[in-house]
Amino acid sequence: MAEPVPASTQEDLFEAVIAAEQRIEPRDWMPDAYRATLIRQIAQHAHSEIIGMQPEGNWLTRAPSLRRKAILLAKAQDEAGHGLYLYAAAETLGVDRAELTEKLISGRQKYSSIFNYPTLTFADVGVIGWLVDGAAICNQVPLCRCSYGPYARAMVRICKEESFHQRQGYELLMTLMRGTEAQRRMVQDAVDRWWWPSLMMFGPSDADSPNTARSMAWRIKRHTNDELRQRFVDMTVPQAEHLGVTLPDPELRWNEERGGWDFGEPDWSELTRVIRGQGPCNAQRVERRRAAHEDGAWVREAAVAYAAKRSAEQHTEEENGK
Ligand SMILES: [Fe+2]
Ligand SMILES: [Fe+2]
Repeated sequence: MAEPVPASTQEDLFEAVIAAEQRIEPRDWMPDAYRATLIRQIAQHAHSEIIGMQPEGNWLTRAPSLRRKAILLAKAQDEAGHGLYLYAAAETLGVDRAELTEKLISGRQKYSSIFNYPTLTFADVGVIGWLVDGAAICNQVPLCRCSYGPYARAMVRICKEESFHQRQGYELLMTLMRGTEAQRRMVQDAVDRWWWPSLMMFGPSDADSPNTARSMAWRIKRHTNDELRQRFVDMTVPQAEHLGVTLPDPELRWNEERGGWDFGEPDWSELTRVIRGQGPCNAQRVERRRAAHEDGAWVREAAVAYAAKRSAEQHTEEENGK
């Protein structure tokens, strides 16, 4: 019989896999804190995909044309798919999807604070695609190289779909900007409302992000919050110019020396408030999720009953076959 591998050797093996840029897989030994960090991050990510369907879902019945409605439906369905891949990735770490859903609707797990803002006009659909999915891409592309295999692999397809989301948003905004004066004002108003919350999607500044160093050492995270935020601003400013909108930041200016854009400080007290549940739509979002979960109980019950019936039938077939 093989000797059990001592814990210190297991840890060395884990560290060696990380150092060699290889992947940790579900059956591999991993430190408890690595597992817990991943469960928290993947669950929060999955919840964000699912809750993120609500702000745009608000416009599905009022899309201005069949084409816009088809695009928006396709995007919302992608987000549902992203949620499902991510819940499946979390399950490989030994948690149950039902348990994660319960934690979301009881407020014990979070989702991205961005989805607690309302969508007031159809221009918000475009701005969410451009800025919110754009920020998501900056955050998520490096996750394709995350050290945990199932998460990294899920992110590959998710990122491809996010890039469609960003493009559809930008194309919608371009169309509105070529329209009437009122439509251009609608775009500018949406940009004014979503710009700062989008910058907050990268999380607090590095000085206030105590877990970043450990996540980077484990190669779950590849860049700090501030690095990703800078990357997003540098990518977005020329797009805003091309679109013909103004980003609502008087401190925004090109820094020749750094070769990047300087920008103002987001209002971190707002982020704290929204995370604590005091954003404009927190209660509504969680309530809607809870109602959808309860409305879906019959589907889950039917699936369980069907699985039990199938397994009883198989059992009988096996008996008869003997
Ligand atoms: Fe997504
Ligand atoms: Fe998306």
